[in-house]
Amino acid sequence: MLIRRPTDLTYSDVSPKSVYTQRREFLRAMGLAGVAAFAGASAWRIGMPFDEVHATSKLDVATKSPFSTTEKETPYNDVTHYNNFYEFGTDKTAPAKNAQKFRTSPWSVSVEGEVKKPRKFSMDEILKIAPLEERIYRHRCVEAWSIVVPWIGFPFIELAKLVEPTPIAQFVAFESFFDPGQMPQAKYSGLEYPYVEGLRLDEAMNPLTLIGVGMYGETLPNQDGAPVRMVVPWKYGYKSIKSIVKIRFVAKQPPTTWNRMAPREYGFYSNVNPNVDHPRWSQAKERRLGEIFKRPTLMFNGYGDQVASLYNGMDLKKSY
Ligand code: MTE
Repeated sequence: MLIRRPTDLTYSDVSPKSVYTQRREFLRAMGLAGVAAFAGASAWRIGMPFDEVHATSKLDVATKSPFSTTEKETPYNDVTHYNNFYEFGTDKTAPAKNAQKFRTSPWSVSVEGEVKKPRKFSMDEILKIAPLEERIYRHRCVEAWSIVVPWIGFPFIELAKLVEPTPIAQFVAFESFFDPGQMPQAKYSGLEYPYVEGLRLDEAMNPLTLIGVGMYGETLPNQDGAPVRMVVPWKYGYKSIKSIVKIRFVAKQPPTTWNRMAPREYGFYSNVNPNVDHPRWSQAKERRLGEIFKRPTLMFNGYGDQVASLYNGMDLKKSY
């Protein structure tokens, strides 16, 4: 996103997914896909076979949500091999490779702060908070690429109801798991860890805000934030924090990782907004992974009917 080292790609350097997908298919057709030396290091990384994805298990979904888009889903292999998860490296293909041994069980999430009933939830308890729904959402990264993902989860508000926020709570602060032993690549990323994020309480309670526990009918692959993450579809992807261990209801706006790193570039709100450019690139258009031509970016990523009223009277150029 921001960190520039000679080895890094900037968003504009990133080749369209179709280019390397075609290359992989070409190599397979030639019978070379298994021979790293022929493929070249970078193509080999990119062409990591499907079966190297960390084992996931099937998740039963009670309902298909009316909030789902009918747009075409991005192929699973793209969503699991083009990731931002800086704890496992900054290269888009690094998390798929480096997160395979990440231990996500046992897991618990502590929910605390300004609540009447603070509580630690085991993963089994989280899965039982509410019926799991499938929600097919557009997901727009600040780097101007996008995907369409069939998430599995339940609305954040269902968790909030169990812990009962007090009237003092105005924001929700989220924290990711961090273990430098399991995430040795993190130290090269230039970010401070653990990764932290935040939402205003009314944003968190909006029916679109999901606690994600799976995708494509299965539990989350490690590189996509196993075992539990946020999904906030009208905001840039970095607000959708992965591998959560702590949720804190708080009175004041909490710090967020990217805002700390570069406050001029990444604000607290981070609503998808084609009219407010990133200081270094335009946000007017985006490239859907797997497509060659860019498409216009929609205000609030197309979720304005559900969320625009949250920002009535606010100047979204100032509160970016
Ligand atoms: N959460 C943590 N803990 N660490 C990260 O580096 N990257 C964010 C977000 N959540 C990130 C994170 C960014 S920049 C994006 S675009 C999304 O995760 C990417 O989610 P995906 O890889 O499942 O598409």
